[in-house]
Amino acid sequence: MPSVAIIGASRGIGLSFAETYAADGWKVHATTRAIDRPGDLADITGDVSLYGLDVRNADQIAALAQALDGRGLDLLIHSAGVLRGVEREEMIAVNADAPFNVVGALLPAVERGAGKKIAILTSQMGARHGGGTPTSLYGESKCLLNDRFREIEPAWRAKDITSVVFHPGWVATNMGGHGAPVSVTESVSGMRRVINEMTQDDSGHFLTWKGTEHPW
Ligand SMILES: NC(=O)c1ccc[n+]([C@@H]2O[C@H](COP(=O)([O-])OP(=O)(O)OC[C@H]3O[C@@H](n4cnc5c(N)ncnc54)[C@H](OP(=O)(O)O)[C@@H]3O)[C@@H](O)[C@H]2O)c1
Repeated sequence: MPSVAIIGASRGIGLSFAETYAADGWKVHATTRAIDRPGDLADITGDVSLYGLDVRNADQIAALAQALDGRGLDLLIHSAGVLRGVEREEMIAVNADAPFNVVGALLPAVERGAGKKIAILTSQMGARHGGGTPTSLYGESKCLLNDRFREIEPAWRAKDITSVVFHPGWVATNMGGHGAPVSVTESVSGMRRVINEMTQDDSGHFLTWKGTEHPW
Protein backbone atom coordinates (compact mmCIF):
# COMPACT_ATOMS: atom_id res chain seq x y z
CA MET A 1 0.00 0.00 0.00
CA PRO A 2 1.13 3.61 -0.49
CA SER A 3 2.67 5.56 2.34
CA VAL A 4 2.26 9.10 3.60
CA ALA A 5 4.07 11.22 6.19
CA ILE A 6 1.93 13.85 7.89
CA ILE A 7 3.76 16.58 9.77
CA GLY A 8 1.64 18.08 12.56
CA ALA A 9 -0.98 15.35 12.96
CA SER A 10 -2.00 15.84 16.60
CA ARG A 11 -5.23 17.64 15.76
CA GLY A 12 -7.15 19.61 13.15
CA ILE A 13 -6.41 19.12 9.47
CA GLY A 14 -3.28 16.99 10.04
CA LEU A 15 -5.17 14.56 12.30
CA SER A 16 -7.91 14.16 9.70
CA PHE A 17 -5.36 13.43 6.96
CA ALA A 18 -3.87 10.72 9.23
CA GLU A 19 -7.27 9.21 10.06
CA THR A 20 -8.52 9.10 6.50
CA TYR A 21 -5.36 7.79 4.83
CA ALA A 22 -5.08 5.10 7.55
CA ALA A 23 -8.74 4.16 7.00
CA ASP A 24 -7.98 3.70 3.30
CA GLY A 25 -5.17 1.26 4.11
CA TRP A 26 -2.19 3.59 3.61
CA LYS A 27 0.93 3.26 5.74
CA VAL A 28 0.81 6.48 7.79
CA HIS A 29 3.83 8.13 9.42
CA ALA A 30 2.35 10.80 11.69
CA THR A 31 4.20 13.37 13.80
CA THR A 32 3.15 15.07 17.02
CA ARG A 33 4.96 17.32 19.46
CA ALA A 34 3.52 15.46 22.46
CA ILE A 35 4.57 11.88 21.68
CA ASP A 36 3.91 10.93 25.33
CA ARG A 37 0.29 12.22 25.01
CA PRO A 38 -0.78 11.20 21.48
CA GLY A 39 -4.49 11.81 22.23
CA ASP A 40 -6.73 11.16 19.21
CA LEU A 41 -3.75 9.97 17.17
CA ALA A 42 -3.46 6.90 19.40
CA ASP A 43 -7.06 5.91 18.56
CA ILE A 44 -6.56 5.70 14.79
CA THR A 45 -7.18 2.25 13.37
CA GLY A 46 -4.68 1.15 10.75
CA ASP A 47 -0.98 1.02 10.03
CA VAL A 48 0.18 4.16 11.82
CA SER A 49 3.65 4.95 13.16
CA LEU A 50 4.02 7.94 15.48
CA TYR A 51 7.08 10.17 15.80
CA GLY A 52 7.81 13.03 18.20
CA LEU A 53 8.55 16.20 16.27
CA ASP A 54 8.62 19.87 17.08
CA VAL A 55 9.23 21.27 13.62
CA ARG A 56 11.67 23.84 15.07
CA ASN A 57 13.91 21.08 16.40
CA ALA A 58 16.70 20.18 13.94
CA ASP A 59 17.70 17.06 15.90
CA GLN A 60 14.13 15.72 15.80
CA ILE A 61 13.88 16.43 12.07
CA ALA A 62 17.14 14.51 11.52
CA ALA A 63 15.84 11.64 13.69
CA LEU A 64 12.67 11.43 11.59
CA ALA A 65 14.71 11.34 8.38
CA GLN A 66 16.86 8.62 9.92
CA ALA A 67 13.77 6.61 10.93
CA LEU A 68 12.56 6.77 7.32
CA ASP A 69 15.97 5.93 5.88
CA GLY A 70 15.58 3.22 3.25
CA ARG A 71 11.80 3.69 3.03
CA GLY A 72 9.89 5.44 0.28
CA LEU A 73 7.18 8.04 0.83
CA ASP A 74 4.49 8.38 -1.83
CA LEU A 75 3.25 11.58 -0.26
CA LEU A 76 4.52 14.13 2.28
CA ILE A 77 2.08 16.60 3.84
CA HIS A 78 3.29 19.50 5.98
CA SER A 79 0.28 20.70 7.98
CA ALA A 80 1.88 22.10 11.18
CA GLY A 81 1.27 25.81 11.59
CA VAL A 82 0.51 28.55 14.13
CA LEU A 83 -1.84 31.52 13.85
CA ARG A 84 -1.79 33.26 17.22
CA GLY A 85 -0.36 33.25 20.73
CA VAL A 86 3.30 33.10 19.71
CA GLU A 87 6.06 35.66 19.20
CA ARG A 88 7.29 36.64 15.75
CA GLU A 89 10.32 34.34 15.92
CA GLU A 90 8.18 31.24 16.51
CA MET A 91 5.62 32.24 13.87
CA ILE A 92 8.31 32.57 11.18
CA ALA A 93 10.13 29.44 12.38
CA VAL A 94 7.01 27.22 12.29
CA ASN A 95 5.18 28.66 9.28
CA ALA A 96 8.01 29.74 6.97
CA ASP A 97 11.24 27.94 7.95
CA ALA A 98 10.06 24.51 9.13
CA PRO A 99 8.31 23.35 5.93
CA PHE A 100 11.61 23.63 4.03
CA ASN A 101 13.73 22.14 6.79
CA VAL A 102 11.38 19.17 7.08
CA VAL A 103 10.84 18.68 3.35
CA GLY A 104 14.58 19.06 2.74
CA ALA A 105 15.35 16.31 5.25
CA LEU A 106 12.65 13.97 3.92
CA LEU A 107 13.27 14.63 0.22
CA PRO A 108 15.31 11.41 -0.22
CA ALA A 109 12.37 9.41 1.17
CA VAL A 110 10.00 11.16 -1.27
CA GLU A 111 12.42 10.46 -4.12
CA ARG A 112 12.41 6.76 -3.16
CA GLY A 113 8.57 6.67 -3.21
CA ALA A 114 6.48 5.90 -6.25
CA GLY A 115 4.01 8.79 -5.81
CA LYS A 116 6.62 11.56 -5.36
CA LYS A 117 4.11 14.16 -4.12
CA ILE A 118 4.40 16.97 -1.56
CA ALA A 119 1.62 19.20 -0.18
CA ILE A 120 2.35 22.13 2.14
CA LEU A 121 -0.43 23.94 3.98
CA THR A 122 -0.27 27.68 3.46
CA SER A 123 -3.12 30.23 3.70
CA GLN A 124 -5.00 32.72 1.57
CA MET A 125 -3.76 35.25 4.15
CA GLY A 126 -0.28 34.84 2.67
CA ALA A 127 -1.43 35.99 -0.76
CA ARG A 128 -0.48 39.44 -2.05
CA HIS A 129 -3.43 39.44 -4.46
CA GLY A 130 -1.59 41.62 -6.93
CA GLY A 131 0.73 44.01 -5.24
CA GLY A 132 0.27 44.46 -1.52
CA THR A 133 2.05 42.72 1.32
CA PRO A 134 0.00 40.74 3.83
CA THR A 135 -0.32 42.87 6.95
CA SER A 136 -0.72 40.36 9.81
CA LEU A 137 2.29 38.51 11.15
CA TYR A 138 0.57 35.24 10.22
CA GLY A 139 -0.03 36.53 6.66
CA GLU A 140 3.58 37.66 6.43
CA SER A 141 4.83 34.22 7.53
CA LYS A 142 2.66 32.41 4.97
CA CYS A 143 3.68 34.92 2.27
CA LEU A 144 7.30 34.08 3.04
CA LEU A 145 6.43 30.37 2.81
CA ASN A 146 4.83 30.96 -0.60
CA ASP A 147 7.83 32.93 -1.91
CA ARG A 148 10.26 30.29 -0.72
CA PHE A 149 8.12 27.53 -2.22
CA ARG A 150 8.14 29.20 -5.63
CA GLU A 151 11.90 29.59 -5.41
CA ILE A 152 12.71 25.99 -4.49
CA GLU A 153 9.95 24.06 -6.30
CA PRO A 154 11.81 23.85 -9.65
CA ALA A 155 14.64 21.96 -7.90
CA TRP A 156 12.11 19.48 -6.48
CA ARG A 157 10.43 19.17 -9.88
CA ALA A 158 13.83 18.34 -11.39
CA LYS A 159 13.75 15.28 -9.12
CA ASP A 160 10.36 14.29 -10.61
CA ILE A 161 8.51 15.47 -7.50
CA THR A 162 5.10 17.14 -7.81
CA SER A 163 4.57 19.73 -5.07
CA VAL A 164 1.85 22.27 -4.32
CA VAL A 165 0.84 24.66 -1.55
CA PHE A 166 -2.78 24.60 -0.37
CA HIS A 167 -5.20 27.11 1.06
CA PRO A 168 -7.39 24.58 2.92
CA GLY A 169 -10.37 26.92 3.23
CA TRP A 170 -11.51 28.62 6.43
CA VAL A 171 -11.77 25.38 8.36
CA ALA A 172 -13.49 24.54 11.65
CA THR A 173 -10.44 23.59 13.74
CA ASN A 174 -8.93 25.17 16.86
CA MET A 175 -7.17 27.54 14.49
CA GLY A 176 -10.15 28.36 12.29
CA GLY A 177 -12.69 28.44 15.12
CA HIS A 178 -15.74 26.26 15.37
CA GLY A 179 -17.95 28.68 13.43
CA ALA A 180 -15.77 28.41 10.33
CA PRO A 181 -17.72 27.62 7.15
CA VAL A 182 -15.69 24.63 5.92
CA SER A 183 -15.66 21.39 7.91
CA VAL A 184 -12.44 19.46 8.43
CA THR A 185 -13.93 16.54 6.50
CA GLU A 186 -14.84 18.75 3.53
CA SER A 187 -11.41 20.42 3.44
CA VAL A 188 -9.40 17.21 3.80
CA SER A 189 -11.49 15.19 1.36
CA GLY A 190 -11.17 18.05 -1.14
CA MET A 191 -7.38 18.26 -0.78
CA ARG A 192 -7.08 14.48 -0.94
CA ARG A 193 -8.97 14.43 -4.22
CA VAL A 194 -6.73 17.16 -5.64
CA ILE A 195 -3.56 15.38 -4.43
CA ASN A 196 -4.76 12.12 -5.90
CA GLU A 197 -5.48 13.66 -9.29
CA MET A 198 -2.54 16.04 -9.57
CA THR A 199 0.18 15.44 -12.14
CA GLN A 200 3.55 17.07 -12.75
CA ASP A 201 1.80 19.82 -14.70
CA ASP A 202 0.22 20.98 -11.43
CA SER A 203 3.56 21.28 -9.65
CA GLY A 204 4.44 24.72 -8.31
CA HIS A 205 0.81 25.85 -7.99
CA PHE A 206 -1.10 27.52 -5.15
CA LEU A 207 -4.38 25.62 -4.95
CA THR A 208 -7.50 25.73 -2.82
CA TRP A 209 -9.03 22.68 -1.18
CA LYS A 210 -11.46 22.63 -4.12
CA GLY A 211 -8.60 22.36 -6.61
CA THR A 212 -9.00 25.88 -7.99
CA GLU A 213 -6.00 28.12 -8.59
CA HIS A 214 -5.35 30.70 -5.84
CA PRO A 215 -3.67 33.96 -6.88
CA TRP A 216 -0.26 34.50 -5.27
N1 LIG B 1 -8.07 26.22 9.97
C1 LIG B 1 -8.06 27.16 9.02
O1 LIG B 1 -9.06 27.86 8.81
C2 LIG B 1 -6.83 27.36 8.18
C3 LIG B 1 -6.89 28.31 7.15
C4 LIG B 1 -5.78 28.52 6.35
C5 LIG B 1 -4.62 27.79 6.55
N2 LIG B 1 -4.57 26.86 7.57
C6 LIG B 1 -3.31 26.12 7.75
O2 LIG B 1 -3.58 24.73 7.80
C7 LIG B 1 -2.63 24.07 8.66
C8 LIG B 1 -3.35 23.23 9.70
O3 LIG B 1 -4.18 24.10 10.46
P1 LIG B 1 -5.28 23.57 11.50
O4 LIG B 1 -6.50 24.37 11.26
O5 LIG B 1 -5.33 22.10 11.49
O6 LIG B 1 -4.63 24.11 12.87
P2 LIG B 1 -4.72 23.53 14.35
O7 LIG B 1 -5.95 22.77 14.56
O8 LIG B 1 -4.40 24.72 15.22
O9 LIG B 1 -3.48 22.50 14.39
C9 LIG B 1 -2.19 22.99 14.22
C10 LIG B 1 -1.25 21.82 14.17
O10 LIG B 1 0.09 22.32 14.02
C11 LIG B 1 0.89 21.72 15.03
N3 LIG B 1 2.02 22.57 15.41
C12 LIG B 1 2.02 23.85 15.78
N4 LIG B 1 3.27 24.24 16.11
C13 LIG B 1 4.06 23.16 15.94
C14 LIG B 1 5.44 22.90 16.11
N5 LIG B 1 6.27 23.85 16.56
N6 LIG B 1 5.91 21.67 15.85
C15 LIG B 1 5.10 20.69 15.40
N7 LIG B 1 3.77 20.85 15.22
C16 LIG B 1 3.26 22.09 15.49
C17 LIG B 1 -0.06 21.53 16.20
O11 LIG B 1 0.52 20.63 17.13
P3 LIG B 1 0.21 20.76 18.74
O12 LIG B 1 -1.05 20.00 18.99
O13 LIG B 1 1.43 20.16 19.35
O14 LIG B 1 0.09 22.23 19.05
C18 LIG B 1 -1.29 20.99 15.47
O15 LIG B 1 -1.13 19.63 15.15
C19 LIG B 1 -1.76 25.18 9.25
O16 LIG B 1 -0.55 25.28 8.54
C20 LIG B 1 -2.60 26.42 9.06
O17 LIG B 1 -1.82 27.61 9.00
C21 LIG B 1 -5.65 26.63 8.38
